[in-house]
Amino acid sequence: MKKITVSAPGKLMLLGEHAVVYNKPCLVTAIDQRIRLTIEAINKPEFHLHAPEVAVLHNKKPMKEIGQGAIPKGAKFVEIAVKNILNFLAEKSPSAIDMRIPSGLKITTKSEFSSQYGFGSSAASAVCTIKALSELLKFKFTPEEIFDLSYKTILDVQGSGSGFDVAAAVYGGTIYFVTGGKTVDQLTISHLPLIVGYSGIKADTVTLINQVKEKADKYPQIIEGIYSEIEKIVNEAKVSLLKKDWQSLGELMNFNQGYLDALGVSNSKLSDIIHAARGGGAYGAKLSGAGGGDCIIALIPEKKRNTVEKAIKKAGGSVIKVKTNAEGVRVEDNVY
Ligand code: MEV
Repeated sequence: MKKITVSAPGKLMLLGEHAVVYNKPCLVTAIDQRIRLTIEAINKPEFHLHAPEVAVLHNKKPMKEIGQGAIPKGAKFVEIAVKNILNFLAEKSPSAIDMRIPSGLKITTKSEFSSQYGFGSSAASAVCTIKALSELLKFKFTPEEIFDLSYKTILDVQGSGSGFDVAAAVYGGTIYFVTGGKTVDQLTISHLPLIVGYSGIKADTVTLINQVKEKADKYPQIIEGIYSEIEKIVNEAKVSLLKKDWQSLGELMNFNQGYLDALGVSNSKLSDIIHAARGGGAYGAKLSGAGGGDCIIALIPEKKRNTVEKAIKKAGGSVIKVKTNAEGVRVEDNVY
């Protein structure tokens, strides 16, 4: 029987969160903490899923019920991705799919990071599923096709999102990204001197997107104005990043944090950690992602790494070691 293992990286939002949901750009980097997914063709007409990190333990259902009925929260991104790719292939190549689809599928996932951190585990698992199943069925998908099917999966499951996390998982590296993949500009950078601090609070992206939307409904011009300012910050930050002008990039991160505060997505714990990092000598610091909790990022002079890490811990955060600019989705192993 055929068996394929793939892996995809998590992500860190550098600048531009929330505005990127509304047709603005953001900067995102892929990180070296990865989700691994193994897919196996089986003879029984069953779909098996084992994803212990999201509390899905040896789930089983008939293949013909994929995507139907009550799907456990943690299983949704994988199961809906399977449904989407099978539908896509059925339309694109009906005869080939009959020949190539196995009776059943067994999927196991393993994560190198906690789904609590907001590192994009949902997007990375959707991307892994699409990549692994396309390899198993020997359909060579382009990165754009993997992006489109994975992004559709995210929208089907959670209803909103820009797709920046999907782009990081597919392409890797550091990307200037516009909503839905309208622009995916892969930036050539070698190193990004960052520290990641975890707030200890789990945030829910969709809840935060909805909170910002409520504000935008009440104050459309003000919120649109904030998004436009964030767009300017991201565009300047792209130039600073390419020039390795860390001083300016840090200052731009601080501006961005101010606007995120104005959108109401920061909180006192995040503020404490961010101010501690700045006080410890960071060029700049901001929340990263939806806000409400999850992580902060601090851009630092290397010689201040220890001081900033200590300051983050003193403010109640924990430091998570990550390397930025990691490789996108890749095949790790295959057995035919
Ligand atoms: C969440 O990590 C970042 C948001 O901009 C949502 C998204 O872009 O999908 C809030």
